Amino acid sequence: MTLTVSRKAHFNAAHRLYSPDWSDEKNREVFGKCSNPNFHGHNYELIASVTGPIDPETGFVIDVKVLKDLIKTQVEDAFDHKNLNLDVDDFSSLNPTAEHIAVAIYNRLKPHLKAGLHLEITLYETPRNFVSYKGISL
Ligand code: NI
Repeated sequence: MTLTVSRKAHFNAAHRLYSPDWSDEKNREVFGKCSNPNFHGHNYELIASVTGPIDPETGFVIDVKVLKDLIKTQVEDAFDHKNLNLDVDDFSSLNPTAEHIAVAIYNRLKPHLKAGLHLEITLYETPRNFVSYKGISL
């Protein structure tokens, strides 16, 4: 039996989307309000979903407490109330788009999961805009 266990989490963070190679005008054209030079915030909602077999001893795919603590130490402590461009190394040379943030979260959590467990990250940047990543390159 293979099941998926999910945990929701939340963080607030500021970002600015821009390419240093482009003019302010082109940045505004491509990234809109998200290229505001003085940064702006989002209330990010995160869903981390772990898929795998039920452990016959515990009856868990993963102990949700373990997943909760991992999200806290690896994601919330690193991203919450931070400026993603300036404060978080993951984005020192990477635009903090929802896509890149989802990949960064995946990369932070996946190494801590037992082998054989699959991870999918769903990240809401706004209530209507969200991305998901499960570590597969197409
Ligand atoms: Ni934005």
